[in-house]
Amino acid sequence: MAVSPARATAFEILLRVEREESYAAELLHSAPLSKLSSRDHGLATELVMGVLRWQSLLDRRLAAASSQKLERLDGEVLAALRLGVYQLQFLSRVPARAAIFESVELVKAARKRSAASFVNAVLRTIAGAAAEDIFAEIGKSPDSITLAQNAAHPPWLVARWTKHFGLEATRQICAHNQTVPGTAIHIHDDQSNDDQSNDDQSDAELAEAGVQLSPGRLLSAARRVLSGDVTATRAYQEGRASIQDEASQLVALLVGRGETILDCCAAPGSKTALLARRNPHAKVFATELHPHRARLLQNLSRLPNVHVVAADARHLPFSLPFDRILADVPCSGTGTLARNPEIKWRLKAEDLHDLQSRQVAILKSALAQLAIGGRLVYSTCSLEREENEAVVEAALEGTAGFQVVDFKGEMEQLRQSGEMCWKDIASLLAGPYLRTIPGVHPCDGFFAALIERR
Ligand SMILES: C[S@@+](CC[C@H](N)C(=O)[O-])C[C@H]1O[C@@H](n2cnc3c(N)ncnc32)[C@H](O)[C@@H]1O
Repeated sequence: MAVSPARATAFEILLRVEREESYAAELLHSAPLSKLSSRDHGLATELVMGVLRWQSLLDRRLAAASSQKLERLDGEVLAALRLGVYQLQFLSRVPARAAIFESVELVKAARKRSAASFVNAVLRTIAGAAAEDIFAEIGKSPDSITLAQNAAHPPWLVARWTKHFGLEATRQICAHNQTVPGTAIHIHDDQSNDDQSNDDQSDAELAEAGVQLSPGRLLSAARRVLSGDVTATRAYQEGRASIQDEASQLVALLVGRGETILDCCAAPGSKTALLARRNPHAKVFATELHPHRARLLQNLSRLPNVHVVAADARHLPFSLPFDRILADVPCSGTGTLARNPEIKWRLKAEDLHDLQSRQVAILKSALAQLAIGGRLVYSTCSLEREENEAVVEAALEGTAGFQVVDFKGEMEQLRQSGEMCWKDIASLLAGPYLRTIPGVHPCDGFFAALIERR
């Protein structure tokens, strides 16, 4: 009997994530998967993300039941075992015999027929063990090592978060990273329409298309998607509603208003779109290093004020100064592990230093493009100090004429204008910086600094 399409797809994606360093979320949204029914696509997503989120815990279960060391298994055999044990331990709706059977069929289809009885035996042993309430264990983990084990995170990452944010906040970060993150959207202002009813119209249109929404938690123009496919709606296809985490929306709002705006690390372009729609009379330049990612910006071309330029932000090709700049730099992404769980297994502590050098170079280059009196927002979706405060300090060291501006005043203005609905502004600040923590705040983990040229 053939393996189900959802499991075959999940198996392929897990192998590619392991071998090609691809991102699961991108593969799950790639064109070949559009052939899957929405049910199969949903199951494939659940399997891939579930296996990646719980990988170290699944491997511990497998190691305890296996006569062979996991490091010695072929990639296909390990991927089939991880899929099997994930279903056995986390998907109560899948009957154990179906989970085991499909994993056995996966190794046979991958020409690893000789491993079929081994896979069968390991999974049968695990099927008999009771699944525990792992979230209760995470919530009461007494130290960072136990927390890392219970929440399937690398110990070094959990140790550094515990040091910076404390044990309770780290438990919340870890628990959040182990759950399916919500989808937020931004309803863009229709600049040709001064009428406030524009948001209501989009809400009504989305509701009519079967998308159920609840209000944004941080921002008035944000909505949380409760059910339905936003991407199938006209509002989304026409760019009037875009999918974007609320912290990412907030960063774009904090860039403010100007006549000339540069977004120097722009792809896929969600912040560029928000900047351009909020500043309809500004010239907005969006630069991106990688051509394949620059192509993602092309769908912004329908916004008449956006100019896409393929360029390295460390050597920007502009002579004019900009009033507002966003440097949303490439980073480790540790604030987005619920969406990109494979990052936690790939990232090494030493990578943070390489990332930092690149981030400092981009920030210095972007600062040089800032007009007198102009403002730059430096941002990452990383929780790591090396990529955040330390980059700002390093880029400003030995320079005169720049100052860090406290975000408190900017956020108070957003509250007064009604754009921000989150009341506890102080909880979003770490000194003068914006600092959101996943699981503590209802969004991804973002850092941002505001720098002004005097
Ligand atoms: C964090 S992402 C930007 C996300 C984007 N601002 C958004 O909100 O949709 C960083 C982007 O910078 C790009 N990048 C990396 N190095 C760069 C460089 N030296 N110059 C310009 N872009 C770069 C990456 O390819 C990636 O697309």
